[in-house]
Formats: sequence, C-alpha cells, structure tokens
Amino acid sequence: MRALRSSWTLALVTTVLVGVALIVGWLGGEWVVWHSGGSEAGLSAEVASAAESGSESRTERAEPPQFQEARRRMVDRQLRSRDITDPKVLEVMGRVPRHEFVPDELDHEAYDDHPLPIGHGQTISQPYIVALMTQLARPRPDARALDIGTGSGYQAAILAELCKEVYSIEIVEPLANEARKRLAQLGYKNVTVRAGDGYRGWPEYAPFDLIIVAAAPDHVPQPLVDQLAPGGRLVLPVGSYPQNLVVIEKKKDGEVERKSVAPVMFVPMTGEAREKRKD
Ligand SMILES: C[S@@+](CC[C@H](N)C(=O)[O-])C[C@H]1O[C@@H](n2cnc3c(N)ncnc32)[C@H](O)[C@@H]1O
Repeated sequence: MRALRSSWTLALVTTVLVGVALIVGWLGGEWVVWHSGGSEAGLSAEVASAAESGSESRTERAEPPQFQEARRRMVDRQLRSRDITDPKVLEVMGRVPRHEFVPDELDHEAYDDHPLPIGHGQTISQPYIVALMTQLARPRPDARALDIGTGSGYQAAILAELCKEVYSIEIVEPLANEARKRLAQLGYKNVTVRAGDGYRGWPEYAPFDLIIVAAAPDHVPQPLVDQLAPGGRLVLPVGSYPQNLVVIEKKKDGEVERKSVAPVMFVPMTGEAREKRKD
C-alpha cells in the first residue's frame, strides 16, 4: 500500500514538474504561456487588402520538399488552429524558409512549435509568437517597420514581406552581422540591420508605422512610443517572467492606448533597459 502511495506521489510530482517546465519554457526562449484568443476585429480585412510589397526583391531558392510540407503543417496546426486569422500573415509564414534562420544541425526542428537556440545564448522565437506579434502590429505594404532584437533575422524577413521598409537592431554584434548576411543572401533588399541597443529606437528613420520588440524590458521604453507614427502600433513583452504581451497604439490625434494581450516569456531586454529597471 505504501509502495502504491509513493508511486502515485512520484507520478504526481513528475506531472507537476513537467507542467512547470513547459510553463517556464524551453531554453528560456519566448513562448506564449496562455492566450485566450480574441483576435482583433477588422484585422483580416485590413491586411487582406495589402498588396505585394518587398517580396519581389527576394530570390526564389530551391529547397528540400520536406521543409515545404513542414511549413504547411506549421501554418495549419500552430497558427490557423489558434488565432492567427490574417491571410497575409498566414501566407508569408507559409512561404518564408524558417530553416534558413536556424543552425544547420537544428533545421529538422525549424518548423516545430517552440523557440530554438541561435547561439550567443539567444533564440529564434516560436513560430506562433512571430505570427501573433506580426498580426497585432498590422503591417501594410506602405509601412516602415522597426524590429528590435534581430536575432536570426526571421521576424525581420516576415516583416520585409509585408512592409515597405524594415529597420532592425540587434545588441549582440555577431548576431547582427550574421542576420544581415543571411537576409542579403536570401534576397531581402528592404531590410537594414544595425548592431546596437534598441532601447532608444532608430530616430534617424522614425516615425515608424509599427515596432516589434523581441526582448522584454520591465517598462515600455518611451523613445519607442515617441517614434511611433500616428496610427502606429508598438508590440512588445513587458515585465518579468511571465511578461505581458502589450500593444500600444498611437491614435491619429496622438493619444496613446495600451492593452495587454497575453502572458508570454521572452529573454530580457539588455543594455539601457536593464540600467533603467524599476525594481
Ligand atoms: C528572442 S531573440 C530574437 C528573435 C528574433 N526576432 C528572431 O526572429 O530570430 C531576442 C533578441 O533580442 C536581442 N536584444 C536583447 N536586448 C536588446 C536590446 N536592448 N537591443 C537590441 N536587441 C536586444 C537579443 O540579443 C536577442 O537576439
């Protein structure tokens, strides 16, 4: 009886530990912890009318057929089946070769439902989180986008397909250099990558119609809000584990509206954001 009870206890403890591990997230990378749904009304129609933008500049590359199939499954099972409804976002996620943005030895996992390591202690985000942030940012073919935390360059590539120009900042210099080279090799001519701290945005190219931040500060960096164009959107994780995925919208009259969308887990924003931590 005692043996039975202790094996039940062991099973219970294992289940709890597995649950906690899943919640904390694999590799400390970014995951949506929970998402109640609630895709934005009017979003699909607005973005569906978007015409082709940066895509004409890309080189079509041959790829092994298993990647095409894996991408199709990723779109169906991880995006469409959740709350990604924007047809342009779904189409682009189904087209951009994510396996080109992960280390060779991990390319068989490129379309799996989790983040992956890209070196220097950083990760490429889970496909769903990239799609969700892109959808929330409401890209348009005439838009100028700012991407903070270039990492592998995957989010920048997705934005490059949907916007006119993308400016991307990465604080880890070797990652910035690798991403710049990768994006150029893939034929993206409308993305500019620079190494540096994204906390203060990129004033020389402001204002931006959308800003996506892939590392979490504990407060919203005011320079990013200031660099939003009227009608523009800033999508970023804010806080400590788990963080809130926040959307800041600057109305046409300059008024700023903030809403929390979902609990998420991202790597912390380093640089000035860390110095200015509020704790
Ligand atoms: C989750 S990863 C980025 C994923 C990336 N968007 C992609 O598609 O691969 C977050 C990145 O933010 C970078 N980062 C952290 N703090 C930063 C800062 N202050 N300015 C710019 N990049 C920063 C990290 O070095 C890391 O590469």
